[in-house]
Amino acid sequence: MPTRTQVAIIGAGPAGLILGHLLHLRGIDSIIIENHDREYVIHRVRAGVLEQGTVDLMHEMGVGDRLAREGLRHEGLYLACDGTRHHIDLAGLTNGRAITIYGQGEVVKDLIDARIATGRPLHFDASNVSVHNIDSEHPSVRYDVNGESYELSCDFIAGCDGFHGVCRPSIPAGALCAYEKTYSFAWLGILAEAAPASPELVYSVHQNGFALFSMRSPQVTRLYLQCAANEDLSQWSDDRIWSELIARLRTHDGWQPNTGPILQKGIAAMRSFVADPMRYGRLYLAGDAAHIVPPTGAKGLNLAAADVWRLSRALAEFYDEGSTAGLDAYSERGLRRTWRAQRFSWWMTTMLHRDATATPFDYRRQIADVEYLVSSRAAMTSFAENYVGVPLE
Ligand code: APR
Ligand code: PHB
Repeated sequence: MPTRTQVAIIGAGPAGLILGHLLHLRGIDSIIIENHDREYVIHRVRAGVLEQGTVDLMHEMGVGDRLAREGLRHEGLYLACDGTRHHIDLAGLTNGRAITIYGQGEVVKDLIDARIATGRPLHFDASNVSVHNIDSEHPSVRYDVNGESYELSCDFIAGCDGFHGVCRPSIPAGALCAYEKTYSFAWLGILAEAAPASPELVYSVHQNGFALFSMRSPQVTRLYLQCAANEDLSQWSDDRIWSELIARLRTHDGWQPNTGPILQKGIAAMRSFVADPMRYGRLYLAGDAAHIVPPTGAKGLNLAAADVWRLSRALAEFYDEGSTAGLDAYSERGLRRTWRAQRFSWWMTTMLHRDATATPFDYRRQIADVEYLVSSRAAMTSFAENYVGVPLE
């Protein structure tokens, strides 16, 4: 195995894989090191909303064929409250921009296939991954694969190893400021073998708590319901899940999600987190390693894509022109986009969920929030431009 590369990428989630491919397209050498196996990375059930900019990026990278065939383009969505669904025309409000439903696992699968086709290294099942000399011009990564130990020297390390990875904790205490907010609730999510009952997503405010109707394909519905942060999944039988989802999503016009066998269920924690700066020496953090948003605004995967798009351009500028301008601006520009997404995700979360300390006043105010949003073209435009995502810059 090579022991030298230009960019060592830690983590083969969306951030690491998109970065590896963007660097490949610019002729920059990388090695991707992942501590789980390929099946785990593909089959982890995660989010599934791609912003317009992320879809465009997949096409520009030449990995958009299956996305174009199987992705579900949505030009609008619904917000429901008090038994009424209100439509928001995302495309009409944003000059034709839209979102596409395509599971993160599908994105990752396409990118792994593309990586393998390039012949560049991608190591799954690496253990004892650690980063060294990150504040020097000669950083390195140590890891074990198949019982062999490796030391990889490189010019840069991209920390794309998610929230629980090794890269961020390798930055000395004091060099990083962490901003964090936790929520008193989480999401219980299911995948069900049931045709989507609506062609577009439905976000619902309800006295019992938030619920979301989404989908993965014409045969599979994805649904979420707000639960306690410390919820015990074993207390949720399939019958209880369905009756709660239907109670929270059903509208007066008789609409409700179709039911069917539950294929998968799990609980996702909610957190807002930002690491500042997104860089230390020659270690650059991207994606969940640098920031976490609550899933309400569907921004996590898209923020990761924006980070590595910017990082790939900065690295190309360094190798092609010897300029560090893009690298020097990486953190500041990334934080600007991150805080914009944080604000939007927090705002949507607060508007739609029932907090543990909520009073009847809070619930009435939430309904007023949604009713104002869906009655004002200015408010809907602001919502839509954030939801479909600002262009990459
Ligand atoms: N060494 C190598 N790889 C690691 C290590 C480690 N010590 N720790 C974690 N990883 C791997 C994980 O197994 C995972 O495959 O890094 C990858 C990180 O991927 P994600 O957690 O998916 O994070 P990211 O690529 O930033 O994707 C953005 O957007 O939809 C949201 O949270 C969702 O994962 C999604 C994220
Ligand atoms: C999803 O389909 O998984 C999904 C959709 C919208 C969100 C979050 C998740 O806001």
